Amino acid sequence: MAEDQAQLTGPDLALGVAASELPDGAKLAGHVGQDPVLLVCRGADIFAIGAQCTHYNGPLAEGLLVDDTVRCPWHHACFDLRTGEALRAPALSPVSTWRVERRDGKIFVREKNAQHEKKPRGRRDEPNKVVIVGGGGAGFAAADMLRRQKYEGGIVMLSSDDAPPVDRPNLSKDYLAGSAPEEWLPLRDQSFYSDNAIDLRLNTTVAAIDARARDVALANGERIPFDRLLLATGAEPVSPSIPGAKPSDVLVLRSLKDCRAIIERAKTARRAIVLGASFIGLEVAASLRARNIEVHVVAPEQHPMEKILGPDFSRLVHAIHEQHGIVPHLGETARGVDGKRVTLSGGSVLEADLIVAGLGVRPRLSLAEAASLKVDRGVVVDAFLETSAPGIFAAGDIARWPDRLNGEAIRVEHWVVAERQGQTAALNMLGLREAFDAVPFFWSQHYDVPINYVGHAETWDDLVVEGDIAGKDGLVRMRRAGRTLAVASVFRDLASLEAEVSLEREARAGAA
Ligand SMILES: Cc1cc2nc3c(=O)[nH]c(=O)nc-3n(C[C@H](O)[C@H](O)[C@H](O)COP(=O)(O)OP(=O)(O)OC[C@H]3O[C@@H](n4cnc5c(N)ncnc54)[C@H](O)[C@@H]3O)c2cc1C
Ligand code: FES
Repeated sequence: MAEDQAQLTGPDLALGVAASELPDGAKLAGHVGQDPVLLVCRGADIFAIGAQCTHYNGPLAEGLLVDDTVRCPWHHACFDLRTGEALRAPALSPVSTWRVERRDGKIFVREKNAQHEKKPRGRRDEPNKVVIVGGGGAGFAAADMLRRQKYEGGIVMLSSDDAPPVDRPNLSKDYLAGSAPEEWLPLRDQSFYSDNAIDLRLNTTVAAIDARARDVALANGERIPFDRLLLATGAEPVSPSIPGAKPSDVLVLRSLKDCRAIIERAKTARRAIVLGASFIGLEVAASLRARNIEVHVVAPEQHPMEKILGPDFSRLVHAIHEQHGIVPHLGETARGVDGKRVTLSGGSVLEADLIVAGLGVRPRLSLAEAASLKVDRGVVVDAFLETSAPGIFAAGDIARWPDRLNGEAIRVEHWVVAERQGQTAALNMLGLREAFDAVPFFWSQHYDVPINYVGHAETWDDLVVEGDIAGKDGLVRMRRAGRTLAVASVFRDLASLEAEVSLEREARAGAA
């Protein structure tokens, strides 16, 4: 992706652009020296910011302007046009900004501005010490936001992972496919944690939380006190309960360690079996195909992802994977595993050097349950992501929060939601009382086809298709009682962003 965008050509903005070429709402991509820059006209203001999203270099010129921000077309990060700040994950770093000058009916982009110094928001009730349980998307985004807000107290981040927080979605995509080096995975270098006085402790498992005494107990017996606690323990893969299936034979994918184990086996594998045809299973299948491995996918459903995306997307996903040579065994389950041999429910036997199960995940709730926090198919939080115990917050895959759009409490397993909840929880741990009102968003990548999804619809009574899903240019609106609850799209990035904004406005109007 980075390479494609580096090809951007456009006017040399240092030489000036006629003001008439930039009417209100216009975006113009060009260069200042070697830097790709986006010039944006908003009313009387003209902004010049970096043209590439700091997440995966998405082209901001193709994004959506919303007030004084621009949203990235690929995974919906949002940047402040005035300061360049990454206001919403998944981008975490700002884009640069340049000074703009108007002279003689022309607009000139001059020197790069110094990096904007963020002003901490509002009045706060600063805790002395924040403890974060979890080194994933939510936990990292919370720690990062605490420091962005100039919080000066202690931050301890406890993670049972053996690696610092990584870009988890990449583990089933480019990294597993062999097209992304491992250096791309960490969300930040090791130095980030020491530079920002974040006491990141890896291989550290929290065994219990004492909500009254306000401390956590580690598996080694050490106790760590907290003033505010964020629980962000994520989810764990469902282990297959198939007779004969040993964890050493049937691998799962959640952590970098899991991914390394799959890659190690993939290096010499000629044939793989993937159990499960949902997002992780199919992304793993696609990545193994990229390594030229013969891949068989075994799943009970006849129509992959139909329950989540509807029949049109299910057909698209099925067709793409077949075109790439996946051998589907749909309507079948694994009845038994014996080393490298898998017996299917229909009686046939497959043999493979690599077996991976992608059978869904379960939120890790045991700490919350043992601490007597309110749990209902997730850790129950209020609009501010605070649990039933004051001062203890939860975010990410474990959190069930009141979704304004549906009027229901929901829990989702999306990267962007986890990061944004981590950010909101950080603000609220500082006493800012900010409701979490982002509309859920996720993406999934199947070879070169990205599927984007905004909103949340567990069920629907009506599907409205626009464009041509089979032709990879369309979207599906999931509606209930005449209201759009979610929109899935393929190569309709702008429409996906517009749907996000419209769902947000509806949710806010509903909450007002
Ligand atoms: C391979 C893969 C690909 C994915 N792709 C996508 C995608 O394309 N798009 C998308 O939207 N979502 C995707 N997801 C889902 C997304 O990664 C999750 O929704 C997100 O990681 C959730 O973040 P989290 O912080 O809640 O949990 P996690 O990121 O899982 O982090 C949980 C952390 O808690 C730690 N932990 C757990 N228990 C303890 C304990 N007792 N003590 C100490 N530490 C503990 C873990 O070690 C881990 O560090 C993918 C997930 C996987 C596994
Ligand atoms: S590339 Fe911009 S949000 Fe991912």
